[in-house]
Amino acid sequence: MRLLTLPHALLMALVLAMAVMATDSRAGSSQWRLSSYCPAGFALDEDKRCRLRSLYRSYSSLQNAGVGGLQTGLPPVRDGFTAQQIDLGRLLFFDPLLSADGSIACASCHNPELGFADGRGRSVGIGGQQVKRSAPGLWNVGLQQRFKWDGGAASLEQQMLGPLYAEDEMGNEPAQLLASLRGVPAYVHLFEQAFAEGPISLEQIYTAIAAFEASLISLNSRYDLYAHGFHEALTEPEIEGLNVFRSFVARCAECHTPPLFSNQQIAVLGTPEPAGLTLDIGAEGPSGDPSQRAGFKVPSLRNIALTAPYMHSGRFDSLRETVEFYTLGRGHAVPEGETLNLHWHIWEPKLTDAELDRLVDFLHSLTDESYKPQVPRAVPSGMTPVNNKFELVQENRE
Ligand code: HEC
Ligand code: HEC
Repeated sequence: MRLLTLPHALLMALVLAMAVMATDSRAGSSQWRLSSYCPAGFALDEDKRCRLRSLYRSYSSLQNAGVGGLQTGLPPVRDGFTAQQIDLGRLLFFDPLLSADGSIACASCHNPELGFADGRGRSVGIGGQQVKRSAPGLWNVGLQQRFKWDGGAASLEQQMLGPLYAEDEMGNEPAQLLASLRGVPAYVHLFEQAFAEGPISLEQIYTAIAAFEASLISLNSRYDLYAHGFHEALTEPEIEGLNVFRSFVARCAECHTPPLFSNQQIAVLGTPEPAGLTLDIGAEGPSGDPSQRAGFKVPSLRNIALTAPYMHSGRFDSLRETVEFYTLGRGHAVPEGETLNLHWHIWEPKLTDAELDRLVDFLHSLTDESYKPQVPRAVPSGMTPVNNKFELVQENRE
């Protein structure tokens, strides 16, 4: 046994730490308190609501401003939740009690260590079932207007009904979800702190989780310093990459428009599926519009270096492979017999190897996890908070 070779003092410390954690997770309901502080990047307004503070909010909106400028305003942002609601949402997000069999939390597929994605091509839900698509990262999701790769959900609240109740994701049912939360005295106590009225309702659950998701703000990368006027924040290769990104040859910024690096539109690119999968009809599903066949929401590229593999079903392992897709010829990966309405900005930019490398350099400058929330050490259900995909971190980082 390796443990026996550890110095005695270290062993004692370990035992003590485990004892503390155990009391922590079994603590009585009155020992749970929600934070009354807004998360980093937010400040309390007079109405006791957390509002996003960002230099971008002092710039004028994107409306009619074209796509060229770096100092353009943010899209409308989902803020105005209370600090307590956000903190409650954090606990719920990591608590496997939310799944039918207590095996899976939101964080199983949206791991903070992996840019709130899961490092997999396609996510794995309850009972080890593989779902159809890749888990997107959740940074800045509060700045988005529609959700899912196919744009099929209109709000964060509507989106989460998918994973909570899908048989292959968390497999739960509304009645069971309510009953299990109401059955935990600590949750009853915490929902009262966050909403001031009982009993726990489904709406309160959805509001708290949405509040937490909307607090995941990443707008302080080195790129952002550069955009705000600090030229030295980017290296020469990164600036070259930014220039390629914004050029009319590469056209990346036409769709991946700063500051979110998404214009939030649906675009048909003709991206390939992994071997063995048939074409994903994408946005044609929810919209019923054949011109949107295989169309997907333009994803934000913030923290993109953290969320490999890439595209809706994780077909590309690296950023280099992903950016190369754009230069291999318009429609080169469209399956035979399919005629897709490819977006007019998807064409033949003929980027050189060096330009592709610079694009990747630039994309790495969009990484900012300075407001990463804390993973709770314990959750009110007494179950182990989910954050268990560390082994994938090594595998998937470039
Ligand atoms: C089994 C893995 C899994 C679990 C568990 C899971 N998700 Fe997801 N999540 C995904 C996948 C896969 C997608 C993409 C779905 C699609 O586009 O069809 C997604 C998409 C999303 C999106 C849309 C993001 C965007 O940019 O459009 C949000 C928001 C989200 N999930 C939040 C949550 C929350 C909140 C929970 C817990 C209630 C949760 N997810 C649980 C796998 C998961
Ligand atoms: C016509 C709009 C459009 C243009 C132009 C465009 N993209 Fe995209 N981009 C998308 C869409 C839509 C997706 C998602 C496609 C999918 O999942 O199949 C995407 C996905 C990506 C991804 C993967 C994101 C993820 O979360 O997996 C990267 C990286 C990316 N684009 C970079 C670029 C770069 C670099 C350029 C310029 C060479 C570019 N894009 C040009 C629309 C566009």
